[in-house]
Amino acid sequence: MNTYSRLPLSIQKGKGAYVWSDKNEAYLDFTSGIATCNLGHCPPEVQKALEQQLSNLWHTSNLYHLPKQEELARLLVEKSCFDQVFFCNSGAEANEAAIKLVRAFANNNHKKHASIVTFQQSFHGRTLATVAATGQEKIKSGFEPMPEGFIHLPYNDYQSLQTIRELEPTAVMLELLQGEGGVVRADPDWVKELSSTCKEKEILLVVDEVQTGMGRTGSLFLYEQYNVEPDIMTLAKGLGSGFPIGAMLAKEEVAAAFKSGMHGSTFGGNPLACTAGIETLNIISEESFLKNVAEQSQLLHTELESLLDDFSFIKEKRGKGMLIGLEINGNAIDIVKMALEEKLLLLSAGPNVVRLLPPLTITQEDVVTFVQKFTKVLQQYMEVEHE
Ligand SMILES: Cc1ncc(COP(=O)(O)O)c(C=O)c1O
Repeated sequence: MNTYSRLPLSIQKGKGAYVWSDKNEAYLDFTSGIATCNLGHCPPEVQKALEQQLSNLWHTSNLYHLPKQEELARLLVEKSCFDQVFFCNSGAEANEAAIKLVRAFANNNHKKHASIVTFQQSFHGRTLATVAATGQEKIKSGFEPMPEGFIHLPYNDYQSLQTIRELEPTAVMLELLQGEGGVVRADPDWVKELSSTCKEKEILLVVDEVQTGMGRTGSLFLYEQYNVEPDIMTLAKGLGSGFPIGAMLAKEEVAAAFKSGMHGSTFGGNPLACTAGIETLNIISEESFLKNVAEQSQLLHTELESLLDDFSFIKEKRGKGMLIGLEINGNAIDIVKMALEEKLLLLSAGPNVVRLLPPLTITQEDVVTFVQKFTKVLQQYMEVEHE
């Protein structure tokens, strides 16, 4: 159906930071399938594990115990502050599960009608409940009536915290770095106060780490950098290196609100998806891997800083680690299209932000190649704009 306006490129192969077109032309991929192929395309360790699993078991449903699912759940719990995991197949489903868990928790505790505060410019997915949770009119428009129970407040705003204190919702759900909404980081002091408000008023804190999780911002999960302990976290994208998988993690006392039969998924946590998840998580959570992410992203940020000096139409560089946004005076999509001509894949985030999401495995050589290509694109853009 006509749900995407696709760029004129047909991709048939991928390896590391590159993809090849049907004409066998190589493109440097700074999109990673929208923050998904964090280990680059076809990472050999994940490929090998998947090949072994392919000849062993594909699918059984959740009517039985699944050792691979249990192993991935154990690993996720070990490497986070959460106690239990629900598996699904996408980010929207992970958030949908989080919303249902919040509501079940409220009902279980005989709280008044469950309500969830989310933030303006947030993005939480394309199912009806996650569209309702999303704080962008353009995502909701045309799908009314919206499911009830969501309140959108301004992000990074202290008045919002006051409103939360007064409203006492069941939960507050946020991205600690808004990706789709323009690459905007949550202010650490604001998050600290939000977290203590939630503790004080017994409001659940839900972090949507669908885009920021799995090493994307330099730590395994972004909440670690904020020194807060959320009650629920959602993951998807990078968890399976491109194999579809989503997860909703929760603290024991919150997870207990889900009783047998209350939620489910036929495919969720199937052996193939969990095999991809186990290999991916084991690689990304290694200290040496995250150290390299920090080093290469530092180099990338430094290079981008100097481009800011050369091209005044770039207003600001934002983001963290390998989730970077450049706010420009102009249309981001024009730069994305020009980059395609230079065999460089880029993204936009809203009308005027160019978004860079390179694989976390990029080398210094990839950064150099990127800077060469991107500088050329920016020069062309400047010439066209001044014609
Ligand atoms: C923060 C966030 N949450 C949820 C989603 C939805 O994930 P999916 O497209 O896998 O449903 C996205 C997708 O971009 C996202 O960035």
